[in-house]
Amino acid sequence: MKTLRVNLPGREYDIKIEKGSLDQSGELIARIHEPCNIAIVTDSNVAPLYSNRLITSMKKYGFSPKLITIPAGEGSKSVNMLTSLYAQMLDMGLTRSDLIIALGGGVVGDLTGFCASTLLRGIPFVQIPTTLLSQVDSSVGGKVAVNLPQGKNLVGTFYQPKLVIIDPTCLETLSDRIFSDGMAEVIKYGVILDENLFNTLRTSPTRTKITEVIGDIIYRSCDLKRMVVEEDEHDTGGRMILNFGHTFGHAIEKKYNFTDYTHGEGVAAGMVMAAEYGEHSGISPHGTAQQIAEVVTAFGLPAKIDIDKTSLINAVKVDKKGEGNLVTLVLAQRIGKAILQKTKKDGIWIW
Ligand SMILES: NC(=O)c1ccc[n+]([C@@H]2O[C@H](COP(=O)([O-])OP(=O)(O)OC[C@H]3O[C@@H](n4cnc5c(N)ncnc54)[C@H](O)[C@@H]3O)[C@@H](O)[C@H]2O)c1
Ligand SMILES: [Zn+2]
Repeated sequence: MKTLRVNLPGREYDIKIEKGSLDQSGELIARIHEPCNIAIVTDSNVAPLYSNRLITSMKKYGFSPKLITIPAGEGSKSVNMLTSLYAQMLDMGLTRSDLIIALGGGVVGDLTGFCASTLLRGIPFVQIPTTLLSQVDSSVGGKVAVNLPQGKNLVGTFYQPKLVIIDPTCLETLSDRIFSDGMAEVIKYGVILDENLFNTLRTSPTRTKITEVIGDIIYRSCDLKRMVVEEDEHDTGGRMILNFGHTFGHAIEKKYNFTDYTHGEGVAAGMVMAAEYGEHSGISPHGTAQQIAEVVTAFGLPAKIDIDKTSLINAVKVDKKGEGNLVTLVLAQRIGKAILQKTKKDGIWIW
């Protein structure tokens, strides 16, 4: 089994990656926790697919699991759903010596993690991510949150899990669109940190081909995110590099009311635009945008989405990570290396 150790002082934990590891969850969790009550939170799509296997494995190792199923979709990442989770967990008599497991995509992971971080001032928590996006991105790094009517992820904190169990075979039941959504983040890791990863994506440019090496792709992606997070756990500096393509991507998602395009689709087109910006400002070599466009297209993601340039400039100017008159742009110096560039808001221009 492939194991990655995330080294955060006092909050170290392992990420275990292997095909079929879902059925080994009981054994893996028994190594880090005594038998106890467990609240397993999942969603209405994932429950019928994977919850029985998890429950069987937990019972085999002496745990007493109870399943809580929430409706699938971003709408569940709400304060109302959080309150409902608190109530159900208190009803089942959960204490701080028990455990909470998130079984699902990023919605289940973010909501359940925030619940675990706050209920009774913190209950140990395990992530079992089941979408590509959650396996390579949201389950690593400890950001947990719920949405408010005013915006996404506005109430949140940092709370590291005790263990992350990744079973790549869970991805087989994802639709092509949701699989591609996660691929956008993998492509991003290649562009910002790892030319070899980017080249692997270029030479295996379909879902079928990449699935042959998906365990390695997930491992490499988690490892890259681990390195960035260990340097900047609380997102005050270097972690900003992970936002490559995201400011423009967010502007696209917003323009289309967060309905027409997935996050990954926005990020895919956003990365191409960020590379175009980089080329025009003399930071990215000529052809960088074209290379990114080819790979995102190969994985069924859009390289171009119609959006007016004023919306893009405004998105950069209102970025919540800006300081006074300065904003930080994430630009590709070449494929495999991104840099952070502080720029005056007035100095931002579009090609
Ligand atoms: N915490 C972080 O660092 C971080 C990073 C990136 C994104 N996020 C958050 O993650 C969320 C998006 O995550 P997501 O893309 O996983 O969305 P999601 O959790 O909504 O999952 C997408 C869809 O796939 C379904 N699904 C999940 N696993 C499945 C499986 N194995 N087979 C079939 N269907 C399955 C879900 O029911 C859902 O309908 C957003 O809320 C975003 O803000 C958090
Ligand atoms: Zn993202």
